Amino acid sequence: MTGTKKLYVKTYGCQMNVYDSERMAEALGAEGYEQVDTPEGADMILLNTCHIREKAAEKVYSELGRFKPLREANPDLKIGVAGCVAQAEGEEIMRRQPMVDLVVGPQTYHRLPKMMEALGRGEKALDTDFPEEDKFVHLPGDRKVRRGPTAFLTVQEGCDKFCSFCVVPYTRGAEVSRPVDRLMREARDLVERGVREITLLGQNVNAYHGAGEDGGEWGLARLIRAMAEIDGLERIRFTTSHPNDMEDDLIAAHGDCEKLMPYLHLPVQAGSDRVLKAMNRKHTAESYIRLIERIRAARPDLALSGDFIVGFPGETEEDFQATLNLVEEVGYASAYSFKYSPRPGTPAAERAPVDPSAADDRLQRLQALLTSQQRAAQNAMVGRTVSVLFEKPGRMDGQMVGKSEYLHAVHVQGPSDLSGRIAPVEIVESGPNSLAGVLK
Ligand code: 5AD
Ligand code: SF4
Repeated sequence: MTGTKKLYVKTYGCQMNVYDSERMAEALGAEGYEQVDTPEGADMILLNTCHIREKAAEKVYSELGRFKPLREANPDLKIGVAGCVAQAEGEEIMRRQPMVDLVVGPQTYHRLPKMMEALGRGEKALDTDFPEEDKFVHLPGDRKVRRGPTAFLTVQEGCDKFCSFCVVPYTRGAEVSRPVDRLMREARDLVERGVREITLLGQNVNAYHGAGEDGGEWGLARLIRAMAEIDGLERIRFTTSHPNDMEDDLIAAHGDCEKLMPYLHLPVQAGSDRVLKAMNRKHTAESYIRLIERIRAARPDLALSGDFIVGFPGETEEDFQATLNLVEEVGYASAYSFKYSPRPGTPAAERAPVDPSAADDRLQRLQALLTSQQRAAQNAMVGRTVSVLFEKPGRMDGQMVGKSEYLHAVHVQGPSDLSGRIAPVEIVESGPNSLAGVLK
């Protein structure tokens, strides 16, 4: 089939959704859809949604409302909602927004072609099952398409941890690891298509335990070491991890696997043991700090990143101080912090909320501290030489941008054929969101 129909995909939320959107676009590509950058003039609009916080979910409905004029101009326009809002709300989406033709959960997008047939007959389609089969197996991979230098690869999905604030175990389901041979095949394929850096994705990626090529069960460290053997693959990263799954072998890999980059996103959420317990995190502030010490012993220059929630039900000023103390003690190169948002169906949503103005105030104070740490870490890079994987031209003429091993965005003046190459860069200036350097 030729690509005559236009598909517009908008992705919200985490990197896993970015990966899923790519795969859905590929599946619809086989149905004759070509991806476009704007919704105007599209034949199909697909929103790949996030349900992690209330604001994220509400955005979907306001975005859908904006498509009304497009639908009026083109009654044949199909509108689909995929991802975690689709999973959590199902039919309710079509009730609230009758313009929606298709609702597909994160575990069933391999069934999209079938669902598109129903849409072709003028029907609506909804599928939010958790089927047994691997959704990735059924998706056609277009091997000929060249890729940029970096790619995501989902190795594990779902979560069995049940942190009391989180919807992921409900929207993405139980932990499932993809088998090693498929992942190795997909990684080799990406490298053949020009990829130099792969980020292994999973909601609980370090809990990875896939079927190995030798019949045994492999952990994440073993998978990383096997991927490091692939010629042409230069860099490996992984996200997101839980402290309780940082096993010895994975910590060791940070020290001895050269292709594993010195950057780790390891959320702690809070610094008070009382709050951590109420969050069902099953670790303490102290055990997290000791863990970071061990990882830093393996890789002293590791750039650490984390997630934090403030205003969790029952959090007192004293509890919040414990979070600030933990941040001071650990030191983060970057971090994400959020105000607690009650999610329907989660245990924490049943508890009395903290005063919203106290939560706002805490978020501001935490963000001020995290920003100052991030700025200090960025400034400390000036004068140092980093190794940059260049990805694309920058906004200025003759500028190229890429990422350091520590995941800083770095720009230099340089030739456009730098794209896809790794080069040493001396950092000369530190800006709020990026570093400026010169090629060495
Ligand atoms: N409220 C606020 N933040 C949340 N996160 C997850 N659930 C919630 C919630 N209900 C944050 C956590 C997690 C990140 C992806 O989103 O910090 O690590
Ligand atoms: Fe959002 Fe979590 Fe779903 Fe990712 S997995 S899209 S962060 S709710």
